[in-house]
Amino acid sequence: MYVCICKAISDSDINEAVARGAETLSDIQTSLGAATGCGTCADFAREVINDALLRRLTYAA
Ligand code: FES
Repeated sequence: MYVCICKAISDSDINEAVARGAETLSDIQTSLGAATGCGTCADFAREVINDALLRRLTYAA
């Protein structure tokens, strides 16, 4: 599903970025450009990042 309509960034794109080391909204903004347009997706993008970080920690444990 799309998280950021302005930049056509999906949850899969964010999950892959987190798997490659992204940890913050700023990381995703820099690497993908998400949440750099209108900004209304920023809160949802953070939720997707946090969920992906939890999965990363769970699989690493
Ligand atoms: S929907 Fe993400 S910047 Fe507009």
